[in-house]
Amino acid sequence: MTILVTGGAGFIGSNFVLDWLGASDETILNLDALTYAGNQQNLAALQGDARHVFVHGDIADRALLDRLFAEHRPRAIVHFAAESHVDRSIHGPGAFIKTNVEGTFTLLEAARAHWGALSGDDRADFRFHHVSTDEVYGSLGPTDPAFTEDHLYQPNSPYSASKAASDHLVRAWHHTYGLPVLTTNCSNNYGPFHFPEKLIPLMIVNALAGKPLPLYGDGQQVRDWLFVADHCSAIRTVLAKGRVGQTYNIGGWNEMTNKQIVHRVCALLDELRPSAEGPYARLITHVADRPGHDRRYAIDARKIERELGWRPAETFDTGIRKTVQWYLDHADWVANVQSGSYRDWLATNYAAR
Ligand code: NAD
Ligand code: DAU
Repeated sequence: MTILVTGGAGFIGSNFVLDWLGASDETILNLDALTYAGNQQNLAALQGDARHVFVHGDIADRALLDRLFAEHRPRAIVHFAAESHVDRSIHGPGAFIKTNVEGTFTLLEAARAHWGALSGDDRADFRFHHVSTDEVYGSLGPTDPAFTEDHLYQPNSPYSASKAASDHLVRAWHHTYGLPVLTTNCSNNYGPFHFPEKLIPLMIVNALAGKPLPLYGDGQQVRDWLFVADHCSAIRTVLAKGRVGQTYNIGGWNEMTNKQIVHRVCALLDELRPSAEGPYARLITHVADRPGHDRRYAIDARKIERELGWRPAETFDTGIRKTVQWYLDHADWVANVQSGSYRDWLATNYAAR
């Protein structure tokens, strides 16, 4: 048996592939375009492992998808591939529409053609699992209840609008064509292999380099943080037991302000790699806010717990300690991803703030 994973060289995708093959012998066909965010080094532990078949390609390439479905006959798809960074979507939304909307559409059509030709148990058991985000629900006020699966879609950034569009396509392919889909909407992940353009890894690598720690606006924006291995276990649970056509919210029950997050990272670095210059928090710098910045996200993850028995295993304390330690132990990985294009991005996003 084989599952097709898209975007399996990115942050969450590579954690998922490694977790999956750590617990199962079912082959993964990993389709990834290796954008700036895709990194085969994340999968180095699988070199020579016949259970991992890597294909360098685009989810918007229909001919490639048809060939892969015909050759590998996957029983399920776990669709991670996306442009995922909000700030990049503000500077250049086109790639988000291309991959998140057109790419998901192309994948749905190829999956529909494949599934339509199946029969019996193969047809009944096929699944298209779409990995999405809490950002599709928009922004909460300080005392609003957390997002449930029934919350209105109110995306505010080009990124979240493109993900919302992809969620709607997935929903429609189920309602109109009967494609057996599952959708999960997850909160902010953190952990190993997180690209250092996102808040937590950026703060770790900047602090270690003695660079400013740029907090957008007042730093009081709230996110709900989940350790990436918990997201992976939630996806495995939904793929195995989720009800077809349903949406499940995934979260860590862990709302924190950005300021709290950055202070926690600094305190851990003070403990694990003290700086001769003094506490890392001295580097925190307030910079111009993100345009259209969502103030608060919070996930109500009761449905997945009630129906499928999933709860996160890590607390923020255990997860962030593992994460900071991972970055301290993987200076080579950090150095490799800080290529020329990474430096161009820092100039684009931070120089004018
Ligand atoms: P990422 O940016 O780290 O990785 C994305 C991967 O997709 C990369 O390997 C990239 O090369 C690949 N990719 C991009 N365009 C492609 C294309 N056209 N064809 C094939 N591959 C392509 O993203 P991530 O943080 O790992 O997020 C994975 C998924 O989870 C995304 O769909 C994202 O919306 C969703 N999500 C992320 C978070 C989070 O906190 N990071 C939270 C909730 C949901
Ligand atoms: O909520 C889930 C989403 O979480 C995912 O769908 C996205 O793919 C993922 O990138 C993440 O989006 P955010 O915009 O919340 O993550 P980011 O790490 O970019 O920013 C987290 C918060 O930190 C946000 O309020 C902006 C702020 N921030 C970010 C950066 C990069 C800063 O204050 N300074 C920074 O330099």
